[in-house]
Amino acid sequence: MLDTTEGKFSIDEITEFINLMQLYEGAMYEVSTKLEILDDEFQVRFSHDPIHHMERRLKSIKSIIGKLQRRGLPISIDSVRDNLFDVAGIRVICNYRDDVYSVSNYLSSQSDIQVLRVKDYIKNPKQNGYRSLHVIYAAPVFLSSGEHYMPVEVQFRTIAMDYWASLEHALRYKSDLPDAKLAEHSQTLLDCARSLQNIEVQMQNIHRDINGAPRVEETPHTTA
Ligand code: GTP
Ligand code: MG
Repeated sequence: MLDTTEGKFSIDEITEFINLMQLYEGAMYEVSTKLEILDDEFQVRFSHDPIHHMERRLKSIKSIIGKLQRRGLPISIDSVRDNLFDVAGIRVICNYRDDVYSVSNYLSSQSDIQVLRVKDYIKNPKQNGYRSLHVIYAAPVFLSSGEHYMPVEVQFRTIAMDYWASLEHALRYKSDLPDAKLAEHSQTLLDCARSLQNIEVQMQNIHRDINGAPRVEETPHTTA
């Protein structure tokens, strides 16, 4: 157990934790390289970049412990391994909604990767208007000790969905607003989510007419 009350960690625990983080980082690079390769291939074959940009992050030790504590889970390395699937995270910001489904499906069908969990908040938006496709992959990391499959949470979304989510996130963490103001802004954000969705559909239709990239509209399926 990591002794967080005293703030003391044994050398063995620290070493084990660093090794674990190295595995998460390896899997994160593995998946983001696969995504870059797909993006490059689309550029060559269809003169279209499906990915606008990507963001990657490893959860900090502070957020890892905070999340375990919030969920009433043990604070230990095994507990991180067994319960947290978003220690390694990649956000893939795509140009169009079609790109979200193409890229996520092409990645999901790769033979060395498993799809552990899928949440499609694009087809089923959250009540507040949040839209994104969340997929938890398990990707192999090869070390001298052998092969380790590690989870990576990938959030696929369009530029418009990302634009919306950034403001909604900022509003959620702005705790000094009066309740009435917060409710008013939340309602406006819900209206904005719907407007952005309409604009996206119209722009996507124009793009479909001028670009021949293949279309996959299905949500990826779990494989593990
Ligand atoms: P947590 O990881 O504890 O949040 O639970 P979960 O794994 O069940 O959550 P989910 O897969 O639904 O969402 C995980 C992540 O998606 C969050 O950490 C955020 O980055 C993002 N997210 C989910 N819902 C919202 C939302 O309503 N607004 C914004 N801005 N981001 C969200
Ligand atoms: Mg999560």
